[in-house]
Amino acid sequence: MAEISGTAKLPPSGDEHSEASERLWVIFVTAVIVLLVAMVVYTSVHYGFHPPSQVETIDSTSLHKGGEFSEANLGTVIAPDGSALVRVVAQQYAFVPNCIVVPAGKPVTIRLASADVVHGFIVQGTNVNAMVVPGYITTLHTTFQEPGERLMPCHEFCGIGHQTMWAHVRIVEASRFPTDADKQKAVTCAS
Ligand code: CUA
Repeated sequence: MAEISGTAKLPPSGDEHSEASERLWVIFVTAVIVLLVAMVVYTSVHYGFHPPSQVETIDSTSLHKGGEFSEANLGTVIAPDGSALVRVVAQQYAFVPNCIVVPAGKPVTIRLASADVVHGFIVQGTNVNAMVVPGYITTLHTTFQEPGERLMPCHEFCGIGHQTMWAHVRIVEASRFPTDADKQKAVTCAS
C-alpha cells in the first residue's frame, strides 16, 4: 500500500520538468512550421515558382487531327514585340519538337498538351516545372536570361520508356529570330 501511494505521487520537480520540455518542443515545432511557410513564400515570390493556374481543356485523343497542337503549329512563334509562344506535345516517349528554340531575355509563354498519359517537364536551372495532364493545356510564362542549352526531362513516370523522354531547350540571342510578319511560322532547332 505504501508503495502504491508512493509511486502515484510524483515529485513536483518532475511535473515542472516535463512542462518545460513540452514548452520547448512547442516552440521548436512552431519555429519549424514558420520556417517552412517562409521558405514557400520566399521561393514563390523570389523565384516565381507557382503552379499553372489556368484551366483550359483539350481533347487529347485528337491533337494530331488539327487545331492549336497540330504538327505545323508545334515549335516557337515570335510575336512582333519579340516575345515567344512555344507549343509542345508530350507523348510516350518524346516531346514534339524535341529541341525547342527560345529567345534570351524575352517573355516566353510555353503551352503543352499531352497526347496520352500524364507527363511532366522541368527545364534545368530555371523556374519551369509543371505537369502535363491529358485533357488539359498547361500554360506557363518565363524568361530565359542567358543564351545556352538546357535539358528538359519528363519528370512524371509515364511508362516503360519514361527515362528516355527528354527535350533540349536552346536559348539564343533574340536578334537571331526573324521578326517579319510573313515569317511567323513555328520554328524549332532544326528550322
Ligand atoms: Cu513522359 Cu515520363
